[in-house]
Amino acid sequence: MKSLVLNHKMNFNYDEVNEYIKNINDVKSNKINLVICPSFIYLSFFKYNNYYLGSQNVGMMEKGALTGEISALQLKKIGVRYCIVGHSERRMLLNETNEMINKKINHLLDNNIIPILCVGETLEEKKASLTFDIIKEEIDRAFSNISNIDNIIIAYEPIWAIGTGMVPTNNDIFITIKEIKDYINGKYSTKLKVLYGGSVNSENINVLEDINNVDGYLVGGASLDFKQVKSMITAMEAKYDS
Ligand code: PGA
Repeated sequence: MKSLVLNHKMNFNYDEVNEYIKNINDVKSNKINLVICPSFIYLSFFKYNNYYLGSQNVGMMEKGALTGEISALQLKKIGVRYCIVGHSERRMLLNETNEMINKKINHLLDNNIIPILCVGETLEEKKASLTFDIIKEEIDRAFSNISNIDNIIIAYEPIWAIGTGMVPTNNDIFITIKEIKDYINGKYSTKLKVLYGGSVNSENINVLEDINNVDGYLVGGASLDFKQVKSMITAMEAKYDS
């Protein structure tokens, strides 16, 4: 079953999120795995009967004197099942390193939360044909000394496609996802799900749905618009039925 992961980022005020919840609580799909990742402060507002709850980040330790941090155990106890890690916004704007990402993944897996590891290249790296080298390094360093990697999901998010309206061609996405899957299969002897993320919306999802090795999408901007969320679900369900 494909996943649709909605990353709200740092959006929605109190009234807006309550309005969104009213709509989303009516959504039911037994054909896609819907995951909603709101801001931390709203996580417990969501009644996750029809969808799963995801977090946008996690701290690196279980508990203790770490002002402002949130642990995987705390998230697990309020029903969080997934967590985005290594998003390029955190890597680039908040100096999140591969070592920190590795610790977060370890901590999440210890608490049975599924990490969604974001990987992807900048435009300069793409132009220099470095896409796969970058991704390989991000994967290897994130997976270092982790025994149960079977429970990790990868999100391939070209940095130049995030929030820009630019989307790689279907063929480019297919090739990169194939490289990721083949690499993980070869080196780690396991098959992981790989999502695509970067400017996915209700207009282009029909075209993206023609790529046959994508296991779903990580959606930012369009996830804030409930009408678009509904259309994206409809498009994915139609593909599932065909
Ligand atoms: P976008 O963001 O859909 O707004 O491009 C995707 C993401 O950052 O996960």
